[in-house]
Amino acid sequence: MTTLPLKDYTQAPATPPDLFEAIQALKTKLNAVILAHYYQDPDIQDVADYIGDSLELSRRAASTNADVIVFAGVHFMAETAKILNPDKLVLLPDLNAGCSLADTCPPDAFAAFKAAHPGHLVISYINCSAAIKAMSDIICTSSNAVKIVSQIPANQPIIFAPDRNLGRYVMEQTGRDMVLWQGACIVHENFSEKKIVQLKIAHPEAEIIAHPECEPPVLRHANYIGSTSALLKYSQASSSEAFIVATEPGIIHQMQKQQPQKRFIPAPPINNCACNECPFMRLNTLEKLYWAMKNRSPEITLPEETRLAALRPMQRMLEMS
Ligand code: 13P
Ligand code: SF4
Repeated sequence: MTTLPLKDYTQAPATPPDLFEAIQALKTKLNAVILAHYYQDPDIQDVADYIGDSLELSRRAASTNADVIVFAGVHFMAETAKILNPDKLVLLPDLNAGCSLADTCPPDAFAAFKAAHPGHLVISYINCSAAIKAMSDIICTSSNAVKIVSQIPANQPIIFAPDRNLGRYVMEQTGRDMVLWQGACIVHENFSEKKIVQLKIAHPEAEIIAHPECEPPVLRHANYIGSTSALLKYSQASSSEAFIVATEPGIIHQMQKQQPQKRFIPAPPINNCACNECPFMRLNTLEKLYWAMKNRSPEITLPEETRLAALRPMQRMLEMS
């Protein structure tokens, strides 16, 4: 009988027992800032320096004087931080943390779509790749899309990409007609209108609050529609004691933390799955965040030409919002 050689586990780097403490120490050592989106796991939110929606995180990324930006979010968010900070090291705990919505808009197909609509101004939702940003005139987020579209002269035709649900919502709010790229997010398209209505019947005291990436049948039932930060602020300002929350349930951690006396009920998905959780956001873990800081990798990099082309519409957004 042949004996297999024993694997030497003593060489594997050990994860520190107290990750919070180890991450704090690395933060000081690297002069790093940790930016986290509301859809991250609660322990990542708890270790972050700033938590916010896409606009707030972009503003933080634009104004930080840290040397290292650790982006606890998805790829397009970390890429946006790199567009704004070419000289800083931008880390993403898991490079596979993509975005189903951004993936609906491949650059070649979008270039052809743009060419088929000459004379149109291109407004792109920040949930897109740097290549799409580079083909856009203005970027927007869910918190400033209405404000930005309202500033465009009435006779200027507009392409809005990639989210058709946010696009439709902006059209309703502004009365503007826009050509929509037909993209959508797998998480927000998966909320069940029927189950939300059933929940509302069981909890008539609860207000329904929804992200504009949800489909029109869900948005129709909402008492309030807004970005993640706007939903959090609304839940604080409202006198209601219960809310049915139609967005990724990671936001409920902050809602509950800031208002322990209120009740937050996640809106249910169509199937009996955990698919109202964003599978991309949830790829990041506290452990991966620690190792990213320890190894200074995985790093976000961008060709300078793409970065400069993507920076222009980002700057227009920051000026207009
Ligand atoms: P917010 O800008 O509202 O945080 O949205 C980000 C996002 O990815 C929603 O799915
Ligand atoms: Fe993208 Fe949807 Fe995840 Fe937001 S929730 S990051 S839009 S896949």
